[in-house]
Amino acid sequence: MESWEIVGGARLVGEVRLTGAKNSVLKLMAAALLAPGRTVLTEVPDILDVDIMGQLLTRLGAQVVHDRPARAVAIDVPDQLDHRADYDLVRRMRASISVLGPLLARCGEADIALPGGDNIGSRGLDMHIAGLERMGAQVSVQHGYLQAVARQLRGSTIWLDFPSVGATESLLMAAVTAEGRTVIDNAAREPEIVDIANMMVQMGAQISGIGTSTLTVEGVDVLQPVHHVTVSDRIVAGTWAVAAAITQGEITVINAFAEHLEIALDKLATAGAHVDVHADSFTVSMDTRPKSVDIVTLPYPGFPTDLQPQFIALNAISLGASLVTENLFEARFRFVHELARLGADVQTEGHHALVRGQPGLSGAPVEATDIRAGAGLVLAGLVADGVTTIHEVHHIDRGYAGMVEDLQRLGATIERVRHSD
Ligand code: UD1
Repeated sequence: MESWEIVGGARLVGEVRLTGAKNSVLKLMAAALLAPGRTVLTEVPDILDVDIMGQLLTRLGAQVVHDRPARAVAIDVPDQLDHRADYDLVRRMRASISVLGPLLARCGEADIALPGGDNIGSRGLDMHIAGLERMGAQVSVQHGYLQAVARQLRGSTIWLDFPSVGATESLLMAAVTAEGRTVIDNAAREPEIVDIANMMVQMGAQISGIGTSTLTVEGVDVLQPVHHVTVSDRIVAGTWAVAAAITQGEITVINAFAEHLEIALDKLATAGAHVDVHADSFTVSMDTRPKSVDIVTLPYPGFPTDLQPQFIALNAISLGASLVTENLFEARFRFVHELARLGADVQTEGHHALVRGQPGLSGAPVEATDIRAGAGLVLAGLVADGVTTIHEVHHIDRGYAGMVEDLQRLGATIERVRHSD
């Protein structure tokens, strides 16, 4: 067991370098199953979820080697795969569901335990299931397992009710070797979708409309393994941008693409920050108390729900009041009770939160309830007076490789504390 102790008050100054996005690499690992042979992914973040996905792929028959110093994962995929993803792995990580499409495509069947994962709402699978059914799969739930069978997936036109990231990825991975043409309308457009689509094109898939809300796939017979560089993590980038603003510091984020974060960086500029954009980096600096900014989370290119807790932390110490609207995950405001322990004034009503900025926060013990809530609490702890102890930091480690060490390099006073309980 580990907790993090932060003494607030330091101004963060310096550079941090991003690696690849958690929300991309886990899906790229699943997509590797589509092609027998060795796929190599680089810029892989050193986070627990990569190891869980590695164990899942190993259980399915692949060999996975994670070379941490090289930030690379090599996946050797056999001709024959097992098609069952067991509860003990799937419950640890919701992204396990991303093996559904590839297994159905490769084996004609998939048995996947219903996922657990982040504690941020109900997160249904109905769009994954409806889309696969349209492509000819028979899907049922038996004894806690999603069972899908399709000897040959057939191309179809699928209109998603909502541009779900997970459903778009599942259907894309199922469609690339289906018979004929698949059209996914109202598809998600996140940079991580673009990344997986580009990787599959490199593997030999025929996909057009990448980066738009209509994806058209012409099924091909076989795919080839590839080497692919994971797109950098825009949510980690955004978290560092808020860290600069909240501590009135100056942080340059390297290997970051500002165009993936346009709304979030614009909000920081509205809050009073200076944002300098370069080819593959950006710098955020702040020299006054921030002004409160209203936030509405939406699918990309809207404001990302995964940066909502970090911006609530920022608004908690900003001048004025702000309204934050969460449109993706109903339980994402749960962490405001923890933020209140630091003295934040946040009132929630359904999917709205009213944040009244305070002149300061005061350090206290708090608990991370999910990855991004944990990041929000760390940011609040950086400016709270005295010591903030963050418990359940294993959630944060799932999304932020080496966050404590990066914070120390930037000048924060933060330590990892190990407990025996
Ligand atoms: C992914 C990201 C997560 C991010 C989210 C939205 C990963 C591992 N996680 O999650 O960090 O916050 O995108 O950007 O990539 N829904 C349904 N039925 C479905 C599918 C989704 O009702 O079949 C609902 C969900 O309950 C949720 C909303 O749609 O309310 C968004 O879900 P989705 O876009 O699929 O997010 P994830 O892929 O789960």
